[in-house]
Amino acid sequence: MTEEQAATRIKDLTNRIHHLNHQYYQNSTSEVSDYEFDMLLEELTKLEAQYPDYRHPNSPTQRVGGSITKNFKTVFHKYPMLSLGNTYSEEDLREFDKRVMKVLEGDFEYVCEQKFDGVAISLTYQNGQLTQGVTRGDGTRGDDITENVRTIKSIPLQLQGQDYPEEFEVRGEVFMPLPVFEQLNAEREDIGEGLLANPRNAASGTLKLQDSGMVAKRKLSCFAYAFLSSSLPFETHAEALAALKSWGFQVSDTYQKCASIDEVLAYINQWETKRFELPIATDGIVVKVNNFHQQEELGYTAKSPRWAIAYKYKAMSASSRLKAIQYQVGRTGAVTPVALLTPVQLAGTTVKRASLHNANEILRLDIHEGDVVFVEKGGEIIPKITGVDKAQRIPGSQPIKYLENCPACGTPLVRTEGEAHFYCSNDKSCPPQVKGKLEHFISRKAMNIESLGEGKIELLYDKGLVRSAADFYDLTFDKLFGLEKVFEDELTGKSRKVSFREKTVENILNAIQKSKEAPFDRVLFALGIRFVGSTVATKLAQHFPDLTAMRHASYQDLIEIPEIGDRIALSIISYFQDPEHILLVERLHQAGLQLKSNQQKAEALSTKLAGLTFVISGVFELYSREELQDIITGNGGKIVSSISKKLSYLVAGDKMGPSKLEKANELGIKIISEQELLAMISG
Ligand code: IVH
Repeated sequence: MTEEQAATRIKDLTNRIHHLNHQYYQNSTSEVSDYEFDMLLEELTKLEAQYPDYRHPNSPTQRVGGSITKNFKTVFHKYPMLSLGNTYSEEDLREFDKRVMKVLEGDFEYVCEQKFDGVAISLTYQNGQLTQGVTRGDGTRGDDITENVRTIKSIPLQLQGQDYPEEFEVRGEVFMPLPVFEQLNAEREDIGEGLLANPRNAASGTLKLQDSGMVAKRKLSCFAYAFLSSSLPFETHAEALAALKSWGFQVSDTYQKCASIDEVLAYINQWETKRFELPIATDGIVVKVNNFHQQEELGYTAKSPRWAIAYKYKAMSASSRLKAIQYQVGRTGAVTPVALLTPVQLAGTTVKRASLHNANEILRLDIHEGDVVFVEKGGEIIPKITGVDKAQRIPGSQPIKYLENCPACGTPLVRTEGEAHFYCSNDKSCPPQVKGKLEHFISRKAMNIESLGEGKIELLYDKGLVRSAADFYDLTFDKLFGLEKVFEDELTGKSRKVSFREKTVENILNAIQKSKEAPFDRVLFALGIRFVGSTVATKLAQHFPDLTAMRHASYQDLIEIPEIGDRIALSIISYFQDPEHILLVERLHQAGLQLKSNQQKAEALSTKLAGLTFVISGVFELYSREELQDIITGNGGKIVSSISKKLSYLVAGDKMGPSKLEKANELGIKIISEQELLAMISG
């Protein structure tokens, strides 16, 4: 392929993939199979690696992220990001309506929208291309987080259609969909990370991550709700929303035109409980005057528009009597208290349990036995206890005394300084911890042995057949066939029978057999090393050729890997100091699990770097480290982890460790920049 042909092909592929993405995300249709789509994306990725000059900054390949931004640039907003006046009552809303009526002569209408509780974003488009994404900041200046914004699939990188102004801005709310938030927190709990308080915090923390590759994994989404431009091609806000949708933005279809304040109030009532069915937390309704000329007529105060107002719902709260506190032990040994309540109706659902987070929370709330507590529904699925109705306290009732021993095995609980949770340290034989580790091992993102789900681990554990993950690989038909157990659900009182019939056993054995093909990064994740989630496991598997190399890696080796910090490095080292873990790993090796990295090496692009070895260090401008690794190996070069006399080149980026630089200079190693490396390939 000539350079010219490559440039044309890159352009065609870019347009085609943008179109397919638009069809998929905005119109829910697929013109090609997933496989064909992946092939197109792969072809583009390869061509871009070979001809980096022709990669468009808004290439669909940028959705996966990978760039590292150390410090976000502060930029001025062209149009300030204002706030909205708030009201909590019908009376205030009628006042607002009267003020609007007084200024505007003649008819006007409102548009009502959800007030999304996420993170406000300002997006700039020039000639149909996303050029900048900026946070609200102080309203006048915000952080330029364009690279992270590019990974959000519901934000178009290149607009569809033709009828958009040359330059304009879109305002919207970035959010983490509730199921993604729940999943993220479940994963964090699983690997022993602190939990994120709510989806809003999760979204705002994610937008500020330095590695856009990690942002891409968090699956953020965005609702667009405002259009700003010096040339206004529309008369009304509702027309602008329809146009935004047609250009490829995600616009929530919950908005509604209202001809009077009574219609606005009806909308507000209608959404008071319905809003809990939306994928995003909302905290009210925004009422906007629809016509842009009328908006101008009404104008602004110093802080907010006079043509819009936010109606905030009062938090939905109910009160209920505390029956008991249940303590749950997770696979990492962390103990979480859950309040069991007398069933009460709240926002359309019956609430029987509420989270109490940890021991500090119980102290902070000063909960006594049998107290009447207030529960509120926030941005999470499980409601939380927000206070105690002290007037109804039973005289002489005792404050809740936090458990001192593990509810499952009796081991005294401990708390490390700075940690919110108490832990049971008996990780070798505390039943819920052992079962939790086994559940983690078979889970979807780990070894994916689905046929062992739903109570089967419990049965295998109770019968003494499985104590360690390696025991799965010693199971036979004879050991499993005919096992059964009846489970009583403590909460519902319902019972359920699990029994191993012929077909069940065959499925289990087949799935266990198949799990031996699971790649190295999944096995690493399945081991359940504290703080090693699936993203970290993937990074480790990319870095180390096999488990033996990882086992023997020093602290220094580990912290030099991108995204691996002090805490993860220490956790890995301490994991491999335990002889039981070494035994487990050896048994898994004998069982035939993949303990070697078989990272699909990108198909060779050239052999220009054949015979040369490279160390990559620091932060780069154009590519992430992983991309540079792929470029080097794709052109026949080899990546090594440490600097020695034999090393051919050190590819140095910003903020590289001084010790590495010193060593390279001492040994007379050639030090090159990212650009020089690329020149070696194209030259
Ligand atoms: S319009 C001139 N519409 O609320 C103000 N804002 O208090 C333009 N928000 O920071 C804002 N949902 O992040 C508008 N449908 C919606 C909204 C919305 C949430 C947030 C926005 C802003 C804050 C204003």
